[in-house]
Amino acid sequence: MAKTIIISNRLPVQLQISNGTISAIPSVGGLATGMKSVHSGGDSLWIGWSGLTDEETPEELESQIDDALAEHGSSKVKLTQKEVDGFYYGFSNRTVWPLFHYFLEYSEFEWESWEIYKSVNQKFADAILDKADNDDVIWVHDYQLMLVPQMVREKRPNVSIGFFLHIPFPSFEIFRTLPWRKEILSGLLGSDLIGFHTYDYERHFLSSVRRLLGLEVSFNDIYLDDRVIKVDSFPMGIDYKKFNEAAREHAQRDESQKSELQKRLDTHKESTPDAKFFLSIDRLDYTKGIAKRLNAFEYFLNKYPQYKEKVRLIILAVPSRSNVPQYQLLKKEIDELVGRINGELSTVSWTPIWYFYRSMPFDNLIDLYTTCDIAWLTPIRDGMNLVAKEYIATRTDKTGVLILSEMAGSANEMNESLLINPNNFEQIADTLDRAINMPKEEQQQRNSVLQKRLERYNVEKWANDFMNSLLNQKEKDRTYISR
Ligand code: ADP
Ligand code: G6P
Repeated sequence: MAKTIIISNRLPVQLQISNGTISAIPSVGGLATGMKSVHSGGDSLWIGWSGLTDEETPEELESQIDDALAEHGSSKVKLTQKEVDGFYYGFSNRTVWPLFHYFLEYSEFEWESWEIYKSVNQKFADAILDKADNDDVIWVHDYQLMLVPQMVREKRPNVSIGFFLHIPFPSFEIFRTLPWRKEILSGLLGSDLIGFHTYDYERHFLSSVRRLLGLEVSFNDIYLDDRVIKVDSFPMGIDYKKFNEAAREHAQRDESQKSELQKRLDTHKESTPDAKFFLSIDRLDYTKGIAKRLNAFEYFLNKYPQYKEKVRLIILAVPSRSNVPQYQLLKKEIDELVGRINGELSTVSWTPIWYFYRSMPFDNLIDLYTTCDIAWLTPIRDGMNLVAKEYIATRTDKTGVLILSEMAGSANEMNESLLINPNNFEQIADTLDRAINMPKEEQQQRNSVLQKRLERYNVEKWANDFMNSLLNQKEKDRTYISR
């Protein structure tokens, strides 16, 4: 029977070895959490990197590693430390990630990491070729693997290949600065279908294809030799039911079943009944605007001093890519900002910012989502931002306010939230004030519309839409070839 092969750098779990024992921890990030729901339901094999380098993996543990991954329907691509440095920390996260998020000044153009990116992409392509039958459908994910579609196409001209980019595709003016812009486009064009989160990213991509490769583009079809490649937008949804049901279960817990975190949150709420909790959850990444948010929070408390001792900002930042210098600098900046703001504003009974720098179990995420009155997400640029959707899905009584940056892909589908420009502190301060005072009925009205939309266009629907579109495209392509 034909199967779907999902391929991405990250697998649903990351492996760790400690004292000779292997453990699997869930991967964090939109790609992993979203695709996990799709993968668990169907007949698919997920190929990716285990999170361990060859140097960290004793030979005698290889088969145990394979077994641990097989439990998650996954199979590994082996990478050396040098490959991880050049491909992952290097080209993927020091060249492409900043460039595609419009952080041009952070983007480094290094020929050595480009060479490693190419050879590691070939390794991933070879892993697909090794596992895939001709009638399997191959679904390649994200910016780490943009050359893979073409590499697979060369060896298997008729196989179905879909590619989905989970981050923004930048405007032509930004993309054109990349020395390997044509190679990247050609790599992607090995696909039959290329998907983006939003119509804007799709448009930017088509514009680059037209202007850099001079190819014929008609609406969203690209004509290349004897193939037609479709480009379309598919805004990724969440596993709505999972978040909504988890929140309902939480509401039914008795005191003894609550987590320590929940008990602490409850105690603080009870001691100041009109207190408001603001929540932000992100990977610690400069694209998420965490430092700006902290500065904006301070600005807000100065503009509206009546909220001192009443509001609290909970920041959950998940460690991410900590070998990349920009992330290390950002960590330092955030530590200092939190320390300074808390130092200057705290009173004996009030600490304005609670800062957690760690990954948290799913249960604690639900504690935070369900307890906090206002979710405040301020990415400077974000492909989608699933946290915004997850927050709304957990609000079972439909209360709660979402303040969301216009620069997040999810803002396109979440017009009923309070949209802000993350650079406009004046607007942010006023919006926080508005959120604190928003009548319950208005909150419920807004969230009710949002919830219906998120429930309907969930991650399963997203994956089905993508897959159906890929199969239709393949059919259209066959007809085109046989003309
Ligand atoms: P990105 O993909 O850039 O990290 P998203 O907001 O799209 O941003 O996705 C983040 C995902 O990671 C969400 O599904 C969220 O639930 C999960 N996540 C974020 N923070 C944590 C955390 N501290 N612990 C566990 N999972 C987290
Ligand atoms: C974003 C990217 C994913 C990536 C995730 C976590 O969501 O689009 O491809 O997996 O961040 O980042 P990491 O570098 O830890 O895989």
